[in-house]
Amino acid sequence: MNFNMNEIITKKRDGGKLTDGEIKFFIEGYTDGTIPDYQAAALLMAIYFQRMDEDETLELTTAMRDSGDIVDLSAISGKKVDKHSTGGIGDKITLVAGPLAAACGVPIAKMSGRGLGFTGGTIDKLESIPGFQTTLEPEAFFKQVDEIGISLIGQSGHIAPADKKLYALRDVTSTVGNLSLISSSIMSKKLAAGSDAILLDVKCGKGAFMENEEDAAELAETMCKIGNSAGKRTVAVLTDMNQPLGHAVGNAIEVIEAIETLKGRGPKDVTELAIYLSGWMVYLGEKASSLEEGQKMVREALDSGAALEVFRKLITAQGGNPDVIDDYNILPQPTCAIDLVFDEEMLNRSFGLNERNEDGVYYVSEIDNQLVGLCSQDTGAGREVKEDEIDPSAGVMVHKKIGDEVRIGDKLCTFVGNDEAEVKEAFEDAGNIYTFSLTKTEPPVLIKKTIQ
Ligand code: URA
Repeated sequence: MNFNMNEIITKKRDGGKLTDGEIKFFIEGYTDGTIPDYQAAALLMAIYFQRMDEDETLELTTAMRDSGDIVDLSAISGKKVDKHSTGGIGDKITLVAGPLAAACGVPIAKMSGRGLGFTGGTIDKLESIPGFQTTLEPEAFFKQVDEIGISLIGQSGHIAPADKKLYALRDVTSTVGNLSLISSSIMSKKLAAGSDAILLDVKCGKGAFMENEEDAAELAETMCKIGNSAGKRTVAVLTDMNQPLGHAVGNAIEVIEAIETLKGRGPKDVTELAIYLSGWMVYLGEKASSLEEGQKMVREALDSGAALEVFRKLITAQGGNPDVIDDYNILPQPTCAIDLVFDEEMLNRSFGLNERNEDGVYYVSEIDNQLVGLCSQDTGAGREVKEDEIDPSAGVMVHKKIGDEVRIGDKLCTFVGNDEAEVKEAFEDAGNIYTFSLTKTEPPVLIKKTIQ
């Protein structure tokens, strides 16, 4: 059946429901170039305002999934579980949860992304390890998972090409923030990536797509419905993004923090979330009969050092230097570091003249987490546009987090990198990252809700 793009745009503009055929026609035509950007942009804006219902969102996802290759992971034995984060600041959880789940027998055949804008990407972090290759031929990818239980590679250019084109268009037409468009974009790629089950880490807070918990829960529910209707068991965990995960935000410095976590010395939040998510992966991968058993198994894999050994094998198998596990100097080192310090000026800016605590102790009450991500990007750790080169040594070490005590002279965070001008720029942009209080603020709850 032939459709008319102008009629499809009019129908959605006026609040109508698009049929499966109309959605398929749009996705196929936009992917092969027969539908121009201006018509696609008009439809995206109509969808943005009029929204799509559940059926339309599901069809949009299916059509985008089918626009490219669908990975066949059947050559790898066992239940494959994919994990996806909607994007966080300092989110190095895949580097910890992947080895933990693999150490418990779950095959991890994962394709990850690069960072763009204020959020980072697993592939950039791994590539900061000298020699680490993130492109593998399918045969080598399957063989590695069968042999050592894990492989982490970059996403192929043929997965959901419709999403690639549409996402670029959404980015420049102010149509990113729509529930159906976000969920179909994420899930089309996950459904094409070939795993048997999907675990979603849906971030909410100041450094996430969804600032409030209600919107994040709606996104999580929509994605779970899409995944489960497509025959893949999908679970979503809502987690906090009002402050960075751990202390390191960057690439090489996040690898160090991930290794420290695998050695049992990581920050509490990174450890807690990695155990929770990998526990779910072990359960979804049917290596445990309950979530509790899954968590017990991953805790043992952490305590025994088994997961650290899996990470060492992963680095070796993908051409990286495994000595990095014991010697962090092998990683790219920054040549420049500037501290942001809690000083009199910040104190005077935060409080009235009569508002002073006698003991000189104040508290961090809020962090502008998106600004932390942007400052990390300023240092050279992130990209403004896809083509930008990154500095693997660059980033931000966040010393003080919500609820922490601060006194005059305390370091709040340190900006590091190799380009002095960029590191200075990050420091100069960082003035409003922190808000302080006279009394202690409770840190946000990290794991908010699990949706199935
Ligand atoms: N991540 C995606 O892949 N797509 C979106 O639309 C938003 C976040």
